[in-house]
Amino acid sequence: MTDYDAVVKLALERGFYFPSCEVYGDAQAGFWEYGPSGVSFKNKFLELWRRELIRRDGMMEIDGSQIMSGSVFEASGHLASFADPITRCKKCGLTVRADKAIEEAARITVPEAAEPAEFDRIIDAEKIRCPKCGGGFASTERFNMMFKVGIGPEGREAYLRPETCQSIFVDFPRLFKSMRGRLPMGVGQIGKSFRNEIAPRQGLLRLREFYQAEIEVFCNPARLDLVEGFAAISDTVLRLQMTTEDSGVMNVTCARAVESGLVPNRLVAYYLGLLSEFYEKTGIDMSRGRFRRLGQKEKAFYAEVAFDFEVETSTGWLELVACNYRSGHDLSGHAAKSGEKFEVMDGDEKVLPHIFEISMGIDRSLYTILEHSLRHDGEHDRTVLSLKPYLAPVHIGILSLVKKDGLREKTDEIHNSIKRRCDAFLDHSGAIGRRYRRLDEVGAPLAATIDHQTLEDNTVTVRMRDSMEQSRVGVAELDSVVAAHTSYP
Ligand code: GLY
Repeated sequence: MTDYDAVVKLALERGFYFPSCEVYGDAQAGFWEYGPSGVSFKNKFLELWRRELIRRDGMMEIDGSQIMSGSVFEASGHLASFADPITRCKKCGLTVRADKAIEEAARITVPEAAEPAEFDRIIDAEKIRCPKCGGGFASTERFNMMFKVGIGPEGREAYLRPETCQSIFVDFPRLFKSMRGRLPMGVGQIGKSFRNEIAPRQGLLRLREFYQAEIEVFCNPARLDLVEGFAAISDTVLRLQMTTEDSGVMNVTCARAVESGLVPNRLVAYYLGLLSEFYEKTGIDMSRGRFRRLGQKEKAFYAEVAFDFEVETSTGWLELVACNYRSGHDLSGHAAKSGEKFEVMDGDEKVLPHIFEISMGIDRSLYTILEHSLRHDGEHDRTVLSLKPYLAPVHIGILSLVKKDGLREKTDEIHNSIKRRCDAFLDHSGAIGRRYRRLDEVGAPLAATIDHQTLEDNTVTVRMRDSMEQSRVGVAELDSVVAAHTSYP
């Protein structure tokens, strides 16, 4: 079984995630749901994001609409440019992404922003045929990936947002004024985005409906090297890769990255540093991560400079975060289309802020943490999800050794006393060894077992997930043991 298959098996069996509408034959690919373990894990990941990125720097957080009017996407450029290259088989009608078809058949990477004629030339030269029926492909076209919706009986034009950040841009004048903003000003948002992917794949890795946690930093383009707090991350090491080649990752401090020109300014280096420290705390193996500077043709149409944070998994390198210097693209577009003023004062200077964004894919991040945390403990023949304790869906299992002799009642009493202060999972049924195994698989760092001695001296056995060590703890101390073991760093 590959590591990917092991994660999916765990996800399905332990309530992390599963396909949407799975009981129906017309369920569409690219839609997945989080179960109870997945929701609890996701919430804790997002709390870490808020602690390490939003609250650390006094950023704001908003929650905008998922459906936005056509004007927004005319101004943003998505109506004109947010499109994948597609080609259709002339024989069976199968539609594929031209770049993916080329990569799969000929192992040639063509940036998705390349001209349609470039795809056609390579498909021709490499004699690439339909993978289903062997037919030839028609000319490559562009397919806009936004989902269009009709509002009201008239069906007025609107779209499901393809990125959460557009509401942050549109809301900027109000936020700056009502929240007494000051540049640089960071605004974050967690929410769903929607993209009509041609080829959704592999569970959480390419979805049509997905979660993003985006941060947009509004800044004065003349002050990109004046970053308060830069000293705090100047020695943080970034793993940087400057090319699209799969080689040459350099370990450089944030300060050195700016001095040597690898990163264009302190503002960008500062946020790459913060992001690196954040992911370190998620338990992802950072020696398998890199910030890759994208080439001209790989960048999104709105980005002037772009670094992708990518992590190696069993499915290859996965992009978890797009870090884009979007310059004045967004605010100038919305100012021109809406007629509103997006300029603000920075000291005595009137500026149209530029934007640097940290656009995080939540689903992919969660998948990667699961894959990097899942291990087989051969010595004890068990599967262990070694999540950081503060990210675990269940903090502590509360187990009765047996249900008789008043132990069930005592166990319920202990569970009731603790369950509002942490995620405690009550389990009375099955052999105790099997109950420990289930807790290991869901990543619970602690388990407390209530036995006959509990009735005599009010202590329980606490078992640690990773070491499997056991110790006796007073019921009155259980709360503080859980808090000490599962609190955020
Ligand atoms: N906002 C950038 C992205 O969605 O990729």
